[in-house]
Amino acid sequence: MVNDCTISTLKGRDFLTIAEFTTEEIHTFLQQALDMKQLQKKNISHPYLKGKTLAMIFEKSSTRTRVSFEAGMYQLGGSALFLSSRDIQIGRGEPIPDTARVLSRYVDGIMIRTFAHQKVEELARYADVPVINGLTDTHHPTQVLADLLTVYEHKGTLKGLKACFIGDGYNNMAHSLLEGAAAVGMDMTVASPEGYEPDKTIFAAAKERGAENSCKISFTHSPQQAAQDADVVITDVWASMGEEAEKEKRLHDFNGFQVNEDLARLAKNDYLFLHCLPAHRGEEVAAGIIDGPHSVVFDEAENRLHAHKAIMKCLMEGN
Ligand code: CP
Ligand code: NVA
Repeated sequence: MVNDCTISTLKGRDFLTIAEFTTEEIHTFLQQALDMKQLQKKNISHPYLKGKTLAMIFEKSSTRTRVSFEAGMYQLGGSALFLSSRDIQIGRGEPIPDTARVLSRYVDGIMIRTFAHQKVEELARYADVPVINGLTDTHHPTQVLADLLTVYEHKGTLKGLKACFIGDGYNNMAHSLLEGAAAVGMDMTVASPEGYEPDKTIFAAAKERGAENSCKISFTHSPQQAAQDADVVITDVWASMGEEAEKEKRLHDFNGFQVNEDLARLAKNDYLFLHCLPAHRGEEVAAGIIDGPHSVVFDEAENRLHAHKAIMKCLMEGN
């Protein structure tokens, strides 16, 4: 569906990247997530999407995204359909525009996890219902909304904090974190080995937006420089889904980029550690860090549920 940025409501919009939302809109999602989290904790029902259906297309594996969208839709009074690309006609070559137009006749929203970001854009262009990006090779916006929620809950603010991402600067998490930090006024330094720098266009746009929001968006090849005085330390796998064949090469290339006790010592005393999961202990993160006192990875995983409910409610029912 085509986004109309002139309307102030989020109803009917797509959720393809963090960058397409204003700071105010991101805070609206976060507030709605906090509100619904409270309702759920108090066992107060909140069936904002009664009778609505979400189609969920998966071309890659998922635990958190699949279960949190499905459980979230159920908690909102609606239902979700899990559609593996192996089982639907997309897997046999049915064009995306046809799939978008057909699904729009049955359901109220479509969530898709796929490879090329252009595929999600094409789906959104032809669908008459909101399309949500559940991860592409270059963006993971629903995860980053949950990350912002987690940092906000633990720190009481986002603006003015100093965060770093240590790992593959060209992956979906790095890109969406750059966009998310820039939107909310949080410093973000990405540290990656040579050859794994963020996409130039995404980085430049985030830097520009960061400057407007009084925060610093930067890149370095030094993990130590990135971690220095950080409030939030984030990492992700070195080989993302679809990059399995490069695993050995990447293990070699990312040598020295593990988030471990030596690196974490440079961060602030009360730093938070985030990882979208699944994690590989002993590779991108030491077990003592992900299982240690600064880690909030399971709060972060839980917050996928609350963030996704906020996204679905705002897009399908209104804010
Ligand atoms: N973090 C995340 O997206 O997890 P899944 O791949 O399990 O959905
Ligand atoms: N960068 C990872 C994130 C997994 C949730 C991947 O794409 O595999």
